[in-house]
Amino acid sequence: MLTTGFLGTRADALVDVAMVFFAVAPFLMTQALRLAAQRRYRAHRRLQVGVLLGAIVAVVLLEGSIRFGHAVDAFTVSAYYGTATLAGLFAVHLVVAVPTFIGWCVLAILSWRRFTGVLPGSFSPRHRFWGWLTYLGLWLTCLTGLGLYVLSFAL
Ligand code: HEM
Repeated sequence: MLTTGFLGTRADALVDVAMVFFAVAPFLMTQALRLAAQRRYRAHRRLQVGVLLGAIVAVVLLEGSIRFGHAVDAFTVSAYYGTATLAGLFAVHLVVAVPTFIGWCVLAILSWRRFTGVLPGSFSPRHRFWGWLTYLGLWLTCLTGLGLYVLSFAL
């Protein structure tokens, strides 16, 4: 088996690092929302931006493995390669992940700029609505992503 990562699957270390991050990210996001609920807004902002930057790094690692590493070789020997199950899960993952990521970036930039002006304030209701939607999107993205990892590199 083509194991160069540390999780004991066919994935390489770049993909494994990204997976560990995406397994932890929803819990970090939960903690960030808890900080907001406790009115520790600066800590909330720091953690939000930290998790978002971590997600960007993790996506770059995945992309690096796909383009320059062993991800594609390891993936083509999966028992699920070419199946409707894998294609369907991948489609659901993309449909959720892309808007979530874009929404998350936009919300972070707008919120950063409005902090102490209209946040908390008139921007709060929209911030909360899009924040909770992003939170839900992140959970779905990470769960489908972990499912894809198992089907592609472990089975
Ligand atoms: C990056 C800059 C950010 C700043 C400065 C910021 C600031 C704040 C503030 C001041 C509140 C309290 C609003 C109020 O109750 O009036 C809040 C709550 C909240 N924020 Fe952020 N936020 C940021 C990023 C984000 C992001 C990217 C998300 C996306 C997940 C998010 C999700 C939430 C949620 C869901 C709440 C409501 C929590 C609750 O219901 O108790 N925030 N944020």
